[in-house]
Amino acid sequence: MKIAVIGGGSTYTPELVDGFARLGSMVTELVLIDPVADRLEVVGAFSARILEHYGHLAKIWWTTDLDAGVTDADVAVIQLRVGGQQARIADETFPLDCGCVGQETTGAGGLAKALRTVPVVLDVAARIRKRAKPGAWIVDFTNPVGIVTRALLDANHRAVGLCNVAIGFQRRFAAHLGVEPSAVTLEHVGLNHLTWERAAYVDGVDRLPSLLENHLPELAAEVDLPEQVLRTLGNVPSYYLSYFYAHDRHVRELLNGPTRGQRVAEIEATLLEMYRDVALVEKPALLGERGGAYYSEAAVGLIASLHGFDDRAVHSVNVRNEGTLPFLPDDAVIEVSARATPNGPEVLPLNPLPPDLAGLVAHVWGYEELALDAALRGGRERVYHALLAHPLIGQHEKASVLADRLIASGRAHLAWA
Ligand code: G6P
Ligand code: MN
Repeated sequence: MKIAVIGGGSTYTPELVDGFARLGSMVTELVLIDPVADRLEVVGAFSARILEHYGHLAKIWWTTDLDAGVTDADVAVIQLRVGGQQARIADETFPLDCGCVGQETTGAGGLAKALRTVPVVLDVAARIRKRAKPGAWIVDFTNPVGIVTRALLDANHRAVGLCNVAIGFQRRFAAHLGVEPSAVTLEHVGLNHLTWERAAYVDGVDRLPSLLENHLPELAAEVDLPEQVLRTLGNVPSYYLSYFYAHDRHVRELLNGPTRGQRVAEIEATLLEMYRDVALVEKPALLGERGGAYYSEAAVGLIASLHGFDDRAVHSVNVRNEGTLPFLPDDAVIEVSARATPNGPEVLPLNPLPPDLAGLVAHVWGYEELALDAALRGGRERVYHALLAHPLIGQHEKASVLADRLIASGRAHLAWA
């Protein structure tokens, strides 16, 4: 199987390559594609050393030529970041002036990212479709994953959106329960970066109630929320829900500290220095300070299942709703647990959502619809409308100021601005 990684010059790539090297015997060819040639050279050479170190026989090469790289690929992983960490830092900063959280996928920052990213990903996907094998899967890691996946599916691409939040919970729950991660099946539900773990089945028995009873302090700390929130919800919200349930606290902290993007830029600079060392043949521990824990395992597992190598394993993926959440239209994209098969993911049955979860999911879905429309068609009015629809913004004065700030800070990457 040939895998093409678009955004392959990312400092995250060694994580993915490590996964293929240790777990992915189905991979015969890996090509890393990135427009930033010098970084790609460093990451590519290090990735080749990782494969060699594990004795993996896949051919690996790297190129700045997207069309050449994706030719005859069976799978394309898209993990690009338009504008790099500089654009991210801007997204994390401008919303704070209005008392709104500054975050790369949540709120106004997430909208800014969607606006500059969707057109680029659609262009990449169209070029993949022309040259990759017929029926090749696109696995999208590019944030905001829900909106990007929706754009890909609307353009009739064979795409699945993937995030590592669910696999992180699966690993942590398994450790608390003293079982293998694969023994835990999550009832993971919501929209990307707006999800809750509502059950954790081991041998058909839901162990979430006992996890909440016996491990509440650790679980609450992991998602950066007070225990009371988890107790009241009766489930485990993802860390990203803390931007909703603890919005004002995040704003206070962000106003007084460096942004995550600044920290990530420092980590990346150090990582690239390390990757240049020809003696380095395994991913360094510092990579673990990035947020992408288990991302390689999620990707390798999903790709294997989509190709029938791993027997219909359960993964949490971004897919069309198609009636799963009855209060959303069929064409909405949701993030849920599904069995991945060569015909695509088959969503597992879910318990109906309680009113508070359903209400928030529907609210953010409405925002995402408008965000995608703004990303596809541009214009200040559409940006303003999406911001007005976002539950963390919602007021016209904020929406108006943020629309102007967003466009001013993102202009370099917005064709219409
Ligand atoms: C988690 C999220 C990803 C996000 C990452 C950010 O893994 O699921 O969608 O990209 O965190 O990590 P970073 O190290 O860039 O802050
Ligand atoms: Mn994610």
